[in-house]
Amino acid sequence: MPTLALTDTVAGKSRAAALVIGIAKGEDGPVLATGAESLDEAMGGKLLPALIAVGATGKEGEVTKLATLGTAGVPVVVAAGLGKADEDGRFRTESVRRAAGAATRALSGTPTVASTLGLVNGDDEATVRAAGEGALLGAYDFTRYRALSQNGRKAPVAKVTLVVGKSRDRLTRAAVARSTALAAAADLARDLVNTPPNDLHPVELAAAARDAAKAAGVRYAVLDEKALAKGGFGGILAVGNGSANPPRLVLLSYRGAKAKTSIGLVGKGITFDTGGISIKPSTGMNLMKSDMAGAAAVVAAVCAAADLGLALDIDAWVPMAENMPGGNAYRPGDVVTMYGGRTVEVLNTDAEGRMILADALVRAAEDKPAYLVETSTLTAAQVVALGHRVSAVMGDEALSRRVEAAGERSGEPMWAMPLPEEVRSGIDSPIADISQINAMWDRGAGMLVAGTFLAEFVPDGLPFAHIDIAGPSYNSFAPYGYTPQGGTGVPVRTLVELMEDLAANG
Ligand code: BES
Ligand code: MN
Ligand code: ZN
Repeated sequence: MPTLALTDTVAGKSRAAALVIGIAKGEDGPVLATGAESLDEAMGGKLLPALIAVGATGKEGEVTKLATLGTAGVPVVVAAGLGKADEDGRFRTESVRRAAGAATRALSGTPTVASTLGLVNGDDEATVRAAGEGALLGAYDFTRYRALSQNGRKAPVAKVTLVVGKSRDRLTRAAVARSTALAAAADLARDLVNTPPNDLHPVELAAAARDAAKAAGVRYAVLDEKALAKGGFGGILAVGNGSANPPRLVLLSYRGAKAKTSIGLVGKGITFDTGGISIKPSTGMNLMKSDMAGAAAVVAAVCAAADLGLALDIDAWVPMAENMPGGNAYRPGDVVTMYGGRTVEVLNTDAEGRMILADALVRAAEDKPAYLVETSTLTAAQVVALGHRVSAVMGDEALSRRVEAAGERSGEPMWAMPLPEEVRSGIDSPIADISQINAMWDRGAGMLVAGTFLAEFVPDGLPFAHIDIAGPSYNSFAPYGYTPQGGTGVPVRTLVELMEDLAANG
């Protein structure tokens, strides 16, 4: 990840290898955003006409490069599109974040970049944060597995310097620290999601969580397959049984100074999902290396919370297993006794996420947190309902609204979905306490069935939210804004935003 720094040196005097400025859609064509004035002056007022001449319109996602031909200290200027300003002349923080990300993506191969995007709304902390966060997130590259094809590829930007009004201001400096912590956390989750499943079994995912926890000063504990058997974690063991690679349950604990509230976190860590005996079709099965995105996000979010010193207590329970159709695999028809004693009739081994999550939720609730939040790549139905960029939130209404609001602030869209009462009777089992899926093979509302199943394992009175990230945690399409192809880091920044809200407001 690039380093992030601040400077008071105005754009026109910048000595960076490239300078990023904002361009917006005005009433009568493109306009320069605040921050580029001194550069325009150095260029004799010709900056905007030159950008227009090469096709700039100011729309979101647009990146236009221009040589300054000796008129300014900086050889290249990059105009990043911000779209239309609102009535007060302000740009949404997400527009700034995306513009910053698109610019650093387009600047691969340029070592040092300066940016005036933190100034486009005047000089406020939120905009500086967004400009920094977007720039860092956009500079992501996953090169660990390029052996012979590395040569000739451009290295991501190594240093980003934000032009601000007062580089020594306390809030501005805090904004840099926060952007750096959030981008590092998102990048950790991206790296883990992108790591191939032959190098990331439950044991390796647990080790990655341990390393991250150690670096952040977070307490780490792990239950191996023997401890899981002793503890009666039937759901995790059932799924893990089909694989030669044993399951794990990881605990990360953080205690915030002056903490007045607490949260339990749970994240789905299926390191590869073949479907098990109810095996998936082969097309696209490779994408199931990302079935641990919830686990990766929870681990990264706890570490970011510790980095930021948030004033709340966190206990994160992260179940990890590989869903394989081995000779000892669990089968449709099995009845599994879960942690806490509830019995589940298995009907489809591809609904493995809810099996490992139910155990972890019951365990997490034993810590008596004030809130419980779980995230998982749980259902294909989430993608059908909300697509590839909007995650679904289910559970306690007030908590779901706070998750939605946190997603809005972080630029990770979330939409609240219901858990209707009639869905519950659809998972009554004729022989066990509950069915794993709808016994009538009713395919309707698969996302809500999964959410209803999970909620069944959470004690009454504990505010619980389930975030289904099946689509948004992985981008199979072209990069956009600050979002690369592959692991996106969703919902790391939303979890941190939510915890900041809980720490501040209870
Ligand atoms: N990991 C999958 C869900 C998934 C699908 C995530 C596509 C990302 C992209 C999950 O374990 C699964 O297989 N769910 C099944 C449940 C069904 C058998 C009730 C599904 O959604 O089809
Ligand atoms: Mn599955
Ligand atoms: Zn799965």
